[in-house]
Order: sequence, then C-alpha cells, then structure tokens
Amino acid sequence: MASRPIRIAPSILSADFARLGAEVEALDQAGADYFHIDIMDGHFVPNISFGPMVMQSIRKLTAKPFDVHLMIAPADPYIAAFAKAGADSITVHAEAGPHLQRSLQTIRAEGKRTGVAINPATPLAAVENILDDIDLLLVMSINPGFGGQAFIPHAMDKIRQASLLIGNRPIELEVDGGVSAENARELADAGINVFVAGTAILGGNDAATYAGRIKAIRDAAMLRTA
Ligand code: DX5
Ligand code: ZN
Repeated sequence: MASRPIRIAPSILSADFARLGAEVEALDQAGADYFHIDIMDGHFVPNISFGPMVMQSIRKLTAKPFDVHLMIAPADPYIAAFAKAGADSITVHAEAGPHLQRSLQTIRAEGKRTGVAINPATPLAAVENILDDIDLLLVMSINPGFGGQAFIPHAMDKIRQASLLIGNRPIELEVDGGVSAENARELADAGINVFVAGTAILGGNDAATYAGRIKAIRDAAMLRTA
C-alpha cells in the first residue's frame, strides 16, 4: 500500500475562543497542515460549538485547508452553508442520517472533498458500500462531543482494518480523539495519515509551544515503518 503524506490537523475546538483569530494565525505559522473545524449541534453530540459564520470569519486568516467535521444531524440542510463559508473537505457522520450516500453527493455537488466519520461503536461495514464516494475516512477514537478525552484502544484495531479496506484507493485515513506524540507512531503504522489533535497541540493555549508540539506529532508519525 502506498503511504499517504502525513498531515497534522490542529482542532480549533481547543482554541481560546476569545482570541480565535490569533490562535489560527499562530497555528498557521507553527506548521499546521489542515485546520480541523469541529461543528457540534447539541443534538447529535452533547455539546454545542459554533457555526458557519464563525468559520467564515477565520477563513481569511490562513490559506491552509479547512477540514470540517460535522457532528450534526441532520447534516444535509447545512452542507451548502459550510461549503460557502470556506470548507475544503466536509465530513459527515455515518450515524447522522439514513441517506449517507446522498449527503456525500451533496458535498461533491458543492465541489468539496467528502469525508465520512464513524463513531467508536460503528463497524467499518458502515462505509464498505460508499468507498467510491469519499476522499477521507475519519475513525473516531473517542465518543465525539468534547476535547481532552482518552484514546479508546479498540480504535487502533479498527484503523488497521480500515487501512486494509481502503487499500490503494485515494482516500485519506484520519483519526480524531486522544491523539498525541505518544501514540502517533503506532497510529501511523496502523495506516493513519491525518492526525487531528486538540489538547496535544493547544492545551494551555500557549502559542509559543505550538510549533514544537506539531513537530513532535509529525516526527513521531514519520517514524512509521510502512
Ligand atoms: C471531539 C472533536 C475533536 C476534539 C479532539 O468531538 O471531534 O476534534 O477536538 O480533541 P483532543 O485532541 O483533545 O482529543
Ligand atoms: Zn473532530
């Protein structure tokens, strides 16, 4: 299997929202590859974050791709708004509605890259029939809703299986939840190429530390054997 390029995607859910613009600029300068944008509705997940207007307000601060993680149900009525607010990829949850393939068609119709996320309790079989419709598969290693949770060990096995399932298809494999420099190498060996990290990069909100923390995750991932 060809190895996909390592991408570090800080989650701005862990940003100091009172200084959101400065946080985005600091992460850009610190070497973030993607910005991971967590959208929560207080319905699909037990927390509320922010919406497309806030996302649009930070869009002008960086040229890096916005990797939008929709933790909302239903998702379809809001896809166009996030596309217009500057998303580069839009990820919907397999559990968020009965017509996943329609959601993916809607994202592609907006000209954006498509992603599907699966919760820890959701088997990989949920995505077997839509592999031709996605550019990114997000394996959740926590139950979504909050940053700072511990990595659920079973996710490592699921990631290995997901990597086999993807094979040589041009699909990025992303992990979200409890990612750190400590587990990045094992995750990379399991097949992950996009590393979402909130607490491990932004915890404490000291911009002077961001470059070193991004580099630590990247360096660990680069030790992958495959
Ligand atoms: C949680 C979000 C995550 C969160 C990860 O539902 O999807 O992106 O920010 O935070 P950490 O890296 O602290 O687990
Ligand atoms: Zn996320």
